[in-house]
Amino acid sequence: MALNSRIIGCGSYLPEKIVTNADLSKTVDTTDEWITERTGIKQRHFAAEGQLTSDLAYEAATRALKSAGIDPSEVDLIVVGTTTPDDTFPATSVKIQGRLGIKHGAAFDIQAVCSGFVYALSVVDSMLRTGQARTALVIGAETMSRILDWQDRGTCVLFGDGAGAVVLRAEEAAPINPRGIISTHIHSDGSYKDLLYCNGGPSSTGNAGVIKMMGREVFKHAVTNLADVVVEALAANSLDAADIDWLVPHQANQRIIESTIKKLGMDREKVVMTIANHANTSAASIPLALDAAVSDGRIKEGDLILMEAMGGGLTWGAAIARW
Ligand code: UT7
Repeated sequence: MALNSRIIGCGSYLPEKIVTNADLSKTVDTTDEWITERTGIKQRHFAAEGQLTSDLAYEAATRALKSAGIDPSEVDLIVVGTTTPDDTFPATSVKIQGRLGIKHGAAFDIQAVCSGFVYALSVVDSMLRTGQARTALVIGAETMSRILDWQDRGTCVLFGDGAGAVVLRAEEAAPINPRGIISTHIHSDGSYKDLLYCNGGPSSTGNAGVIKMMGREVFKHAVTNLADVVVEALAANSLDAADIDWLVPHQANQRIIESTIKKLGMDREKVVMTIANHANTSAASIPLALDAAVSDGRIKEGDLILMEAMGGGLTWGAAIARW
């Protein structure tokens, strides 16, 4: 019996506090015009003092469980993609497991920065297909505001906080057009580790550090790697770009998304774009965008969804799913 991992629910959470570009320009040497023109970002949400990544993740997770119509006790795997965990250890996922009152199964975090959600989907899909778990919560959650260098206007204007979650369930694959994850494709190239990194950590400085990015270089790699991995994902399934109903990309920069779809010959109308309102929420950006498009009725049962992301590492990846 071949198993498939079907997405049976999704949810998201954004902290209440909204910071517009105009707000930022009061304390940072920047303008709404520069940020909008270069990135497409208009505003971002920031977590309140004391509000942690696990708090955002827990909200998104409970909403996803509600949309799936299942009790937390049915979940036997929790994987959180995050680069801003609450603490060095334990994993943010086990804090969520504890809050949900789940005492069985497994919970762990994945660190692949902005590719974290695609990496998590890939690992969880493999585990569900091989019967290692039956019902999984896959969460992307970040408080990027905690690792920003407010003296670096080239990075501090780009990021936001938030969380998104999906519930995946292993079920017998239908013979024709089975719903769920169709394939995942993940990559990394550590020779580019210095293009985008955090200058701290438990073993190096003893503190979390702040984001350092060679923006132009990362931009170039993003367009190339994202187009390549999308071509790889489509080819693996004998699909064309025209077969995809919705592209749900990582939201780092509107120009990266536009350059990628131009390279692939994809229709802009089929792209879920949330960057203007959320900014770059790293591992949370894909599930936040997914939930936005499911909630407003754009993504419907049977639609083919293509997700792609690139981030520090460099890491990148894509996933194709039938909703
Ligand atoms: O999610 C992980 C992956 N991350 C990404 O994909 C990000 C990829 N990179 C980018 O999105 C873009 O490189 C940025 C949006 C970060 C920067 O855009 P850019 O067009 O590459 O600008 P730049 O860094 O080359 O800077 C151009 C100019 C500079 O001024 P000069 O030297 O030309 O006088 C900067 O000092 O813009 C200036 N600048 C700013 N001006 C106003 C940089 N940041 C700002 C700012 N406000 N916030």
